[in-house]
Amino acid sequence: MIKDKKVEDRIRQSLATNFETFADKDASLEEFAKEMTLENLEYNKDDYLKYCLYETMRMEAPVPVSSTFMMTENLDIGPYKIRAGDMMFTNIQKLHHLEDQWGPDHNEFKPERFADRGKHHPMCFIPFLAGKRVCIGKTFAESTMKVVLPLIMKAYSGFELVNKDLYHVKHINNTLMKTRPEVMIIMHRD
Ligand code: HEM
Repeated sequence: MIKDKKVEDRIRQSLATNFETFADKDASLEEFAKEMTLENLEYNKDDYLKYCLYETMRMEAPVPVSSTFMMTENLDIGPYKIRAGDMMFTNIQKLHHLEDQWGPDHNEFKPERFADRGKHHPMCFIPFLAGKRVCIGKTFAESTMKVVLPLIMKAYSGFELVNKDLYHVKHINNTLMKTRPEVMIIMHRD
């Protein structure tokens, strides 16, 4: 979003479509916050911001690998023979970058790819894991993102990424992601 002004402008457009007070310069942050009802936070009129949040978590999974778990029964999945007692974990970051699911442009930030959810297997986008060990804070985390980001965007008119070079570091094979890109953002008011 901050890297590409076009993305930022498109998010602002999405917010103006979903919320009457977003683009209204006379409306305060408090008034804008009051418009954020559960229904409005679905971003039904224009999904773009939601797609940006998904695409951000796809590209840099906040939790890149799951914790380990142990199989209690033997299981054959295709050619894979998993035996009781085997330890496993899910490589979330890798699933988010599978070329046969996301295409050769999987390293590019393209929120529109989420407009057609049928194109990728649902288990190839699992920032909060899935099944019995799904993140208990998933809805809370998603709602927070959907509230906080628009508030920041209304409060600040522009953003500037300072140390751009670090942002390009990719960690696809480094599942532990010990070195995350460190970015500094300058936020501007009018
Ligand atoms: C973007 C934000 C978040 C992401 C991407 C995320 C992701 C995850 C993932 C992948 C797991 C599964 C870990 C595993 O078993 O290997 C998990 C578990 C968990 N998360 Fe989150 N989480 C987020 C925010 C939160 C928040 C805000 C809370 C609490 C308010 C929370 C509470 C938990 C708890 C308690 C578990 C353990 C669930 C269990 O094992 O039964 N998470 N989270």
